[in-house]
Amino acid sequence: MEHTEWTHTPVLLDEVLEALQAQGSRGTFVDATFGRGGHSRAVLAQLAPEGRLIAFDKDPEAVAQAQRIDDARFSIRHESFAHIGDLPSASASGVLMDLGVSSAQIDNPARGFSFRFDGPLDMRMDPARGLSVAQWLAQASVRQMAEVIRDYGEERFAFQIAKAIDARRQVRGPISTTAELAQLVAGAVKTREPGKDPATRTFQALRIFINAELEDLQQALAASLRVLRSGGRLAVISFHSLEDRIVKQFIARHSRETVDRRAPFAPPKPMALCALGRVRPSAAEVAANPRARSAILRVAQRTSHLLEGAPA
Ligand SMILES: C[S@@+](CC[C@H](N)C(=O)[O-])C[C@H]1O[C@@H](n2cnc3c(N)ncnc32)[C@H](O)[C@@H]1O
Repeated sequence: MEHTEWTHTPVLLDEVLEALQAQGSRGTFVDATFGRGGHSRAVLAQLAPEGRLIAFDKDPEAVAQAQRIDDARFSIRHESFAHIGDLPSASASGVLMDLGVSSAQIDNPARGFSFRFDGPLDMRMDPARGLSVAQWLAQASVRQMAEVIRDYGEERFAFQIAKAIDARRQVRGPISTTAELAQLVAGAVKTREPGKDPATRTFQALRIFINAELEDLQQALAASLRVLRSGGRLAVISFHSLEDRIVKQFIARHSRETVDRRAPFAPPKPMALCALGRVRPSAAEVAANPRARSAILRVAQRTSHLLEGAPA
């Protein structure tokens, strides 16, 4: 099927615009996760003629959609947002990260993200790079599989699932489809969580791992400190506790003065961020778009670079 059939409803759109707009409409904004451009288009609609919007996405289908935007203020980069640090220092008035997968990715069986639809077991955001989940599961040790499923899926039955995958590949060869994996996991998970498919945690874990999602997030957050100008806003939407914990701890760590333990008499490093709060979607938004239900938006403001002696 043509990729144009797959759509995505932007989450917490008004709240994101409010967070970024506080910086006016003339600056340079970064949409680190273009997806289907719901947030980008809304930012562009309010951007001044001299403003700029630089978007990133790993996914070639998202990039192809972005390339249709005919607007001199807009540009798209086909790379991980871990590279936002390549932008000039203190150049951005706002950085948005809307983490995870888009509906366009998850609803397309050919991308292999969902246990609900049968398709090739892939899950790469950029299918041209790295290993697919099927390739990785064909070669990983039981211990590696169990660690990934436990650490990134917070799955109690991680070891049993890894053993089941190993047993199956020894007898019938590697798993190649989402339906095969979902069925195998359902057999290995001995208790049921209400309203949750038994494969949910395993699919989440494998997706996070194969796309290095948490590593990219850590890098992009660190880089955003350099890229945001003084007063610039960081807005991050996360969809599960592993991501949100990283964002929350990052903002908390940079929202206080820090003392270098190796140089206890040096003046403390001033705070780099000021936390502006946490926003959840309204009941009305969740009713209209159930995929918004687990979203958490955290917003922080960059404090002065001059205070830190960093390049402005
Ligand atoms: C939740 S969607 C964004 C939806 C978008 N805000 C919209 O309104 O259409 C997340 C997007 O981020 C992309 N993505 C995830 N991790 C990425 C990374 N490390 N670097 C670049 N893009 C990434 C995915 O390919 C996906 O298209």
